[in-house]
Amino acid sequence: MATHNVLLIGGGGREHALAWKLSQSELLKTLFIAPGNPGTSQFGKNISLDISDADRVVLFCRNKKVDLVVIGPEKPLVEGLADHLESHGISVFGPRKEAAKLEGSKMFAKKFMKKYEIPTASFKTFSSDKFDEALNYIEKRDRWPVVLKADGLAAGKGVFICESAEEAGQRLKQYRENDMLKEASDRLVIEDFMKGEEASVFVMCDGHSAKILHHAQDHKRIGDGDTGLNTGGMGAYSPAPIVDDHMLDRIEREIIAPTITGMQLEEAPYKGILYLGLMITPKGPKVVEYNCRFGDPECQVILPSLKNDLLDLMVASEEQRLDEKEIQVDELFRCCVVLASEGYPGSYQKGKRISGIENTDSNALIFQAGTALEHGELVTSGGRVMGVVGSGGTLQQAIDHAYDNVDKISFEGAYWRKDIGKKGLLHL
Ligand code: GLY
Repeated sequence: MATHNVLLIGGGGREHALAWKLSQSELLKTLFIAPGNPGTSQFGKNISLDISDADRVVLFCRNKKVDLVVIGPEKPLVEGLADHLESHGISVFGPRKEAAKLEGSKMFAKKFMKKYEIPTASFKTFSSDKFDEALNYIEKRDRWPVVLKADGLAAGKGVFICESAEEAGQRLKQYRENDMLKEASDRLVIEDFMKGEEASVFVMCDGHSAKILHHAQDHKRIGDGDTGLNTGGMGAYSPAPIVDDHMLDRIEREIIAPTITGMQLEEAPYKGILYLGLMITPKGPKVVEYNCRFGDPECQVILPSLKNDLLDLMVASEEQRLDEKEIQVDELFRCCVVLASEGYPGSYQKGKRISGIENTDSNALIFQAGTALEHGELVTSGGRVMGVVGSGGTLQQAIDHAYDNVDKISFEGAYWRKDIGKKGLLHL
């Protein structure tokens, strides 16, 4: 039965969860992870491969007879790694460059939504040589707050919610002056702020059909009560109680169906995971952003719920047979609490010894992210160090199981939010 050699690209908590789930597949022969982390090495072979060198990835796939490449992060997708591999006859789970523009270019995504009447906030776009026009537009606005978005990938640092013209003016200057943001903000999107509650919906697509896997809510800010700086995500829970069956039906009709059809009409059929960042507003679901991959840490709460064989779904997606599949998820709640290094999302120290994972119990899964092995000892090596995922028959139970196990793990300077999942309890 085991027929597939798979190369998984990435090395974060999302990829640890993907490796864990893929390793359960009856179809899996060998799993390679590039670069992986100490957690993924329990489920496959971590390899050192420069994934920015697409020819090297092709060579590796040929040498090891890799049947499917699963690309975890957005950057290689947006840069066209899938196109390169497919042009050499290697199958990929993940969108091609033109389709990954849904995440890679905010301007493309907004214009696409307008063209295909997909609900989203009203917006205007500006190119970087028209900064004065952007400033002028902002000064004349009478609706606040306003949202500024850099067009390109900015590792979650390209979006600002501004309460006044003065603040927006400062942020506009920041786009020009900050080296990292300059590249991403060649073009800018300025849009209305949407009021409501955010939810993330994950959809598996094969270019023609699409199946909802599951949904979750992320906690992007560093501090309890959604305060402080934005991060990659400090925790998540699933399912998102605000996304009931009626809402899912609307999301399918008003957002997913026109997105799939629209991308076909744009001659960029969408395959892989489509991550809908939504605002559930009093008028219905609206798109905040599209992403071309699984969310991190949402992936860590979605995959444990999925009853299907993930590799079977990925192969079906690659072979455009997704319409044959029925997605099944269990009835449990999941809550992921991210343990971070002191100072994250700013600067932080690495190399802190991690202890206690062996004391965690079967009510929790541990997905490593910023970890490394030093002289055989597990140490911190990143901002987000690991996610502790509790599960339970109620959201409260899942939260309790996550925090009970967080308490068993320690490293110097460990920081975590204490309120993951709390806002979900308000809806139950
Ligand atoms: N958790 C947010 C993201 O993956 O973009």
